[in-house]
Amino acid sequence: MKKLIFLFFLIATLSCKTEKEPIVDASSGERGLIAEKAMVVSAREEASAIGLEILKQGGNAFDAMIATEMSLAVAFPFAGNLGGGGFMVYRKADGEVGSLDYREMAPLLSTKDMYQDENGNVISEKSKLGAMAVGVPGTVAGMFATHEKFGSLPMSQILKPVIGLARNGFVVTEKQAAELAEYRDVFVKMNGENILYAKEYKAGDTIKNIALANTLERIAENGREEFYGGETGQKMIAYLKEKGGIMVMEDLANYSTSWRKPIEITYKDLNVISMPPPSSGGIVLGQILNMIEEYPLEEYGHNSVKAIQVITEAERRAYADRSFYLGDPDFVEIPTDKLVSNEYLSGRMEDFSFDKATSSSSLEHGKLPGYESDETTHYSIVDQYGNAIAATTTVNGAYGSKLYVDEIGFFLNNEMDDFSAKPGVPNMFGLVGAEANSIAPGKKMLSSMTPTIVEKDGQFWMSVGTPGGSTIITSVLQTLLNVKEFGMTMQEAVNAPRFHHQWLPDEIMFEPGAFDSELLRTLKDKHYNINENKSRIIGKVDAILRLPDGRLEGGADRRGDDTAVGF
Ligand code: DON
Repeated sequence: MKKLIFLFFLIATLSCKTEKEPIVDASSGERGLIAEKAMVVSAREEASAIGLEILKQGGNAFDAMIATEMSLAVAFPFAGNLGGGGFMVYRKADGEVGSLDYREMAPLLSTKDMYQDENGNVISEKSKLGAMAVGVPGTVAGMFATHEKFGSLPMSQILKPVIGLARNGFVVTEKQAAELAEYRDVFVKMNGENILYAKEYKAGDTIKNIALANTLERIAENGREEFYGGETGQKMIAYLKEKGGIMVMEDLANYSTSWRKPIEITYKDLNVISMPPPSSGGIVLGQILNMIEEYPLEEYGHNSVKAIQVITEAERRAYADRSFYLGDPDFVEIPTDKLVSNEYLSGRMEDFSFDKATSSSSLEHGKLPGYESDETTHYSIVDQYGNAIAATTTVNGAYGSKLYVDEIGFFLNNEMDDFSAKPGVPNMFGLVGAEANSIAPGKKMLSSMTPTIVEKDGQFWMSVGTPGGSTIITSVLQTLLNVKEFGMTMQEAVNAPRFHHQWLPDEIMFEPGAFDSELLRTLKDKHYNINENKSRIIGKVDAILRLPDGRLEGGADRRGDDTAVGF
């Protein structure tokens, strides 16, 4: 008997060594930062700390949002921005929910086929690199819209520590040094040798962005107009003109943010509140949750073959609908209620079988009765008063269009690539679109950003979101399911390996090296195409969970420099 037990342990030890170590055990109990009352989780320690400082000064989650977002523009220019746009979902202490769209807009001189040559072929680089890729930035307008509606401290007080950060400098991290080195050549190619980011930086160096400090000072003094009509706007437009762009001062004057009614989806005992169009996030997340609700995921197990199959097949179907139906609601009619209705979705999984993958080429967007027609960053904040926000902001690709306006201290987005340049031609995330997301002057490009707040028993439960282009929605989904279905802590849910399917290309993208080879082989046998090697990191989630005793747990993604702080 003893020999048998010994043999069992020997085999178990050996087989453990030969298998890839999972990043997290679904039940290991590792917790993120715990705080009593308030928390900020963002992509950089400085930005989280400045957000918290504003809360400590008596500010609310909205004041802290502005401070955090602007600090990310300073210390995390990879994605944090003045030259981009974003979305914010909120839930106030009294239960009021809402969302703000501060997404970029197509310039007024845009045309539907502006990225096609005379033969109708898409010139892929044109929507990604340089002046033609830039959408009219919305971030500064978003900050002022938030401040006007919900701010409690003066803008000058909120921006003071941010200006200090830009003036005194931030310390380059290892990951940041690597990113800056990777893009340095293209910065120089696009902007010349003299810009701040043409220099070579190593980890531990301090970067002082004096031009940005001055810009923020002028914004604190002159308000929204400084960006949309004043010196900052004029300098940005002059630079874009010099670089062959089409944006004019009228575009800035024409820019507007919108407060929008969020998408609300019931999943079991949760109420999921997320971003409506022009983000696809809320609708696609809602569709997937609705389609998977009847399957016993907990019983199947976290990242088991059956759980991956159910989630993948729901994702495939939801992304097919995304591609056809979704765009800017100010320009196209979106059948939101129908798309997330039980009536429609209950039939969508009918042809799915556990035996074999559905093929995307045989699957189209669903038919609705009566219907005619890498870089982003997320932060979550809960304040001591019980208000919560989730905000995702972006310049689209890493450092956006790579255009850096040295005089005013920031990068400009390449968000125009999120439009469908031509029906069926994939964008940088491999997403295809149709008429609903075609380019038109003043239109906002479809997004996948999914800032999300979840309620349980009528109370705040979770604030969650992530960058990751098309993988944003599925990363938010998995983080939510990891806590709800698989009993993980917030930090474990963020750590856990992720996978992704987006209808086209017809493949499941797996986080490299994180999934068992046997599991991947079983899926291959069922005709799933597996993309493990090529895939980028899927998402970089920052989230906050309210624990049963009322305290808060942060989940800061270790895939980046993300940090939770609280009190
Ligand atoms: O709005 C969108 O969906 C994209 N522009 C997001 C880009 C992104 O997440 C890049 N980060 N990895």
